[in-house]
Amino acid sequence: MTWDAAQYLKFADHRLRPALDLLGRIGAEAPRTVVDLGCGAGNVTALLAERWPTATMVGLDPSATMLERARADHPSLRFEVADAAQWTAEPPVDLLYSNAALHWLDNHATLFPHLFRQVAPGGWFAVQMPRNFLEPSHLSVAEAGRDGSWRATIEPMLAPPPVAEPGFYIDLLASDAAELDVWETQYIQMLDGENPVAEWTKGTWLKPFLDALKGDERAGFEAAYRRRVAAAYPSRADGRTLFPFRRLFLVARRR
Ligand SMILES: C[S@@+](CC[C@H](N)C(=O)[O-])C[C@H]1O[C@@H](n2cnc3c(N)ncnc32)[C@H](O)[C@@H]1O
Repeated sequence: MTWDAAQYLKFADHRLRPALDLLGRIGAEAPRTVVDLGCGAGNVTALLAERWPTATMVGLDPSATMLERARADHPSLRFEVADAAQWTAEPPVDLLYSNAALHWLDNHATLFPHLFRQVAPGGWFAVQMPRNFLEPSHLSVAEAGRDGSWRATIEPMLAPPPVAEPGFYIDLLASDAAELDVWETQYIQMLDGENPVAEWTKGTWLKPFLDALKGDERAGFEAAYRRRVAAAYPSRADGRTLFPFRRLFLVARRR
């Protein structure tokens, strides 16, 4: 899909917190090589560079629009085009970090062992992915998608949740891990503005569905989605909207 960095960064503060929580659990002291996989607009890559200033660091992402923003905002850092499913590290890296990116790829049963093999012995693999796919913010995409003339376009795009239970990832990583730390957090995000949950998903999960439609169908589908999430996440008396959001974290140190 084509990313809109400005829409994604509208909630940069809320999106940054899990990236920092993930960073906080990585025990690497002086990694020589660090990769930020699915680095997006590069704001988290910059934090990795601050924490490990002597490391050789690269942010990788397949999106030209995200990389353009990353290079503009962080000219001293290195960013390159790459698809996580195809990427291999030569030689293996000391830290492979990926925040809010790997849920865009399928076949995790193959992907996660593959990525863990790109980490050097004693090195670190740190991943955060959303796990909010069974909440109204995400379920409303399918519901609205089936509720109009756009159904023929949207329905074939619907897929099961891309992120599995925590135990699935533990089974994939444990045999090659010297340390394994897995947890979930549900952030109770307090958002400002008009229908902010719809604005949030418009920068991420909703976007490929919107991009598949044009004109009246696009407007009708978006309106149907917005109605549903406005009802599921009402504005409070103080004008703010609570958007609970669950995320899964994995930090593994390779044997
Ligand atoms: C939600 S953004 C997160 C960006 C950044 N990691 C952050 O924390 O701000 C998701 C990113 O995953 C990237 N992505 C999607 N498919 C990918 C793939 N196959 N390989 C690597 N990155 C991918 C997207 O291009 C996008 O920049």
